[in-house]
Formats: sequence, C-alpha cells, structure tokens
Amino acid sequence: MYNSKITGLGFYVPEHIVTNDDLSKLMDTDDEWIQERTGIKQRHWIPEGSEDTSAVMGAKAAKIAIERAGLTKDDIDFIVFATLSPDYYFPGCGVQIQDMLDMPTIGAIDVRNQCSGFIYALSTADQFIKTGMYKNVLVIGAEYHSNGLDKSTRGRGVSVIFGDGAGACVLSQTEDNTKGILSSHLHSQGKHADKLIVASPSIKHWVPEILASKEEDISYFPYMDGTFVFKNAVVRFSEVIMEGLNTNKINPDDIDLFIPHQANLRISQFIQKKFGWRNDQVYNNIMEYGNTTAASIVIALTEAWEKGKVKEDDIVVLAAFGSGFTWGSVIIRW
Ligand code: ACO
Repeated sequence: MYNSKITGLGFYVPEHIVTNDDLSKLMDTDDEWIQERTGIKQRHWIPEGSEDTSAVMGAKAAKIAIERAGLTKDDIDFIVFATLSPDYYFPGCGVQIQDMLDMPTIGAIDVRNQCSGFIYALSTADQFIKTGMYKNVLVIGAEYHSNGLDKSTRGRGVSVIFGDGAGACVLSQTEDNTKGILSSHLHSQGKHADKLIVASPSIKHWVPEILASKEEDISYFPYMDGTFVFKNAVVRFSEVIMEGLNTNKINPDDIDLFIPHQANLRISQFIQKKFGWRNDQVYNNIMEYGNTTAASIVIALTEAWEKGKVKEDDIVVLAAFGSGFTWGSVIIRW
C-alpha cells in the first residue's frame, strides 16, 4: 500500500466581484443581513460574455496545480472532477479537462456530491493511489453557480450565498506512510435530498413539462430549507471531524489547521467554538468568495498554503456537509 500526498495546488476565480450592495440592486436584501447571517461580503461571478464555465475555470486552476507539483500534463494518470454545475448534463467536466489540457487519453470521472464534492473526489483519488493503480491524480472542484440562480427577491435566501470559482490539486504517490492523506470518512443520508435540491430539468421532470406547467414552475432554481440544512450541518460536521480524529488517535487540540467547506461563516464559527480551536487553527475565506461548493475547500487550502499557513508535518483537517445530504472529512499530515 502506498500513501498519497498533495504535491500541487491552484485556484482560479473570475475577476468580476459582486458585492452585497450590488445584490441589493437586484433583490430586496442588504449588506447587513448577508454579513450577519453568512459572513459573506462579496463573491466572484462570471460576467456576461465571458467564456469561463466550470470546466474552463477548472482547467485554469489545474494548470497551476500541475505546474506547482513540478509535473506536466503528461504525468497525470487520472482526473476526478467535482461539481454540481457541470457544463453539460452529459458528458461530464472531467473529460473536458482531458481535452482542454491536451492530455493523453487517461480516464476521467465526475463526482456529483455538491458541497462534499471535493472531499469525495479527494478520497476517490486517494484510493486509486493507495492501491498503486495511479501515481498522479488531478483532483478539481469547480462551480459556475451564478448563471443558475434566481436573482430576484424570491431567490434571495439561496442566491446571496453562492459564488463561482475553481480549485485543483495534484495528489501523488508517496512511499512515506507517515505523510499525506491519513484517512477519509464519507457519509450520506438521501432521505433529505429534497431539502437542498435543483429538481429539474431532470429525466423525471423534463423541459416540455416545465414549459407546459400551468402554475409557475421554478424547480430549475436551487431550493434550500436553510434552517434545516444549517441544523444538520453543525451536527454532521462535528461527528465526521471526530470520526477522523479518533481513527488517527489525534486530540482535537493537536490539529494545526481546520479548513471547513465554506458554506456559512456561522457554521464554521460554531464548529470552531465546539472544538475550542484558536483563530489561527481555522481558515475561512467565505467573506471574499461566498460558497463555491465543490471548489470551496480546495480554494481555501490553496490560499492557506500560499500564505504559508500549511507547513511540513502539520495536521490538516478538511470537512464538508451539503446537499444529498452528504458529508465527509479528510485528515492529512502535510
Ligand atoms: N436578505 C434579506 N432577507 C432575507 C434574505 C436575504 N438575502 N434571505 C432570506 N431573508 C429573510 C427570509 O425571507 C426570512 O424572512 P421572514 O422571517 O420574514 O420570513 C428571514 O430572512 C429569515 O430567513 P431564513 O431562511 O430563516 O434565514 P436563516 O437565518 O436560516 O439564514 C441561510 C439563511 C444563510 C441560507 C442559512 O439558513 C444557512 O446558511 N443555511 C445553511 C446553508 C448550507 O450550509 N448549505 C449547505 C451547503 S450548499 C450545497 O450543498 C449546495
């Protein structure tokens, strides 16, 4: 058995910034409400006319990660792409990356696990490396939310939290079994699927039905029971972090950095308080980017690494919760 470690990280967000004040021109909301409930000050949205998409942004982030790993596109053995906002219903974004980066005909899969997407993708890549099947796997999380949001007052409970962006890492084989991904823990509870969902267009509810609907049918916009999701999130985050720490016999006090999925700053703060972590043990950037779903953890990890907050031998805890419901954690010794 081999271990896998992150050897390169990169992220890309569109330049166009949308502040809370900008949103208040589109819908009945205000900076105070958004900051108080979510901590978000601004997000990056792909502007009209841009060629960016989830796959395009993912490719941009991937190029940086591959270069920082000291590799070339030809060294990558496999692609795992996490997104809830793929460019197409099918095929997935992973195969687009293979083409966009002009890679050999390596395998590529998409992971459709929403906010937990990056955790699931990282864990998937880790298994391929642990068994010795692949040496270098490209893991990408990317979201193009802004084109699919209800930007009227009707959609304000959901639309204000989401941002566009992409992050990527290269996961590489190492023979040092003390370093890299120590464990991953993945969970789901499908009975709550309808609490956070884009219900259509889907094969169950296809376009002609939506168009023919007598009552206004907006099931193509994300629906979220925010309070229910929030309550479940704080419980599941804590459980799955504890599961990871217990498996590795790590005391919560001994972690160096916790990077939660950037769903809501209040969720992150709740978890931080529960574990008694200092501010320097937790990294948040939702204030600047909003919730970029499958991209959020890898964007935050890249930023933290760029700022020198992730050092050799550090214990880094990643955790996420989101639609599905799905949740998970990954424990890393850097
Ligand atoms: N601006 C002003 N008022 C608003 C806004 C807004 N943007 N949005 C909602 N409101 C109003 C509501 O209409 C409601 O008004 P009412 O009391 O008169 O009916 C009031 O504010 C409270 O609304 P709630 O939805 O109860 O607000 P809440 O405090 O729950 O905050 C939020 C909403 C921020 C979305 C929160 O519930 C949350 O963060 N939930 C968890 C999100 C999450 O973790 N998602 C998982 C990841 S996402 C994924 O997997 C895709």
